[in-house]
Amino acid sequence: MSRRKIIAGNWKMNMLPNEAMEFITRLSECTYEAKSEIVLCVPYTDLFYSLLTAQNTKIKIGAQNMHWEETGAYTGEVSGKMLKVINVEYVIIGHSERRQYFAETDETVNKKVKSAFKYNLKPIVCVGETLEQKEEGKTNEVITNQTKLALEGLSTEQVKNVIIAYEPIWAIGTGKTATSEDANNSIKEIRNEIKNIYGEEVANVVSILYGGSVKASNAKELFETSDIDGALVGGASLKVEEFKNIIMSAE
Ligand code: 13P
Repeated sequence: MSRRKIIAGNWKMNMLPNEAMEFITRLSECTYEAKSEIVLCVPYTDLFYSLLTAQNTKIKIGAQNMHWEETGAYTGEVSGKMLKVINVEYVIIGHSERRQYFAETDETVNKKVKSAFKYNLKPIVCVGETLEQKEEGKTNEVITNQTKLALEGLSTEQVKNVIIAYEPIWAIGTGKTATSEDANNSIKEIRNEIKNIYGEEVANVVSILYGGSVKASNAKELFETSDIDGALVGGASLKVEEFKNIIMSAE
């Protein structure tokens, strides 16, 4: 098993079903040959349309969140089982916007990661520091701690299959990308933390992505580093040409 290259889009609260279908049709036409895993994490209301449109293409579909329980009185929530039965493959867990606006904690992130594995979903777990934490020199402490807590109680086999996205909060939607060197160093820290807990063999196969203002113009430099295995792309994943060019930068 070697590290997979993954280019994932996070559409956040954007795109109506007709727009999703058109986007996926157009993207599929230019990604037949792509070697990376291509994932689009779409709003719940686009899932069904996106899954149908993405059939027989290279494009995989993910959700942006899930609840950890299977069923129950949790108004407005969607469970891992519900995602799995309609063939969703991936799910973003613990995005900083969910931690910030919807009170997600390291504890709920951990419960969701465990539940994702229970339903055979591939979790894309987000970690990242705030600007304040960065300025206080706490980046490594914050991201290694978030990683440790998110993965707590998982088997080594499960950890091998986790996808981690390092997304410095100050770089999200701001146009400020971490330098490829800084992003790579942070990702090395995360990999090192995984090595300390789960061993080198596991750390060497976990895919760790960078997210935060990734664009076609900076993707190649990020992907050429030693430890960045792909990207989680927000704004630039809403434009077919731009997202296609990011995918091509990883080839
Ligand atoms: P942007 O690419 O828009 O900065 O968003 C990054 C992100 O939050 C992806 O999850």
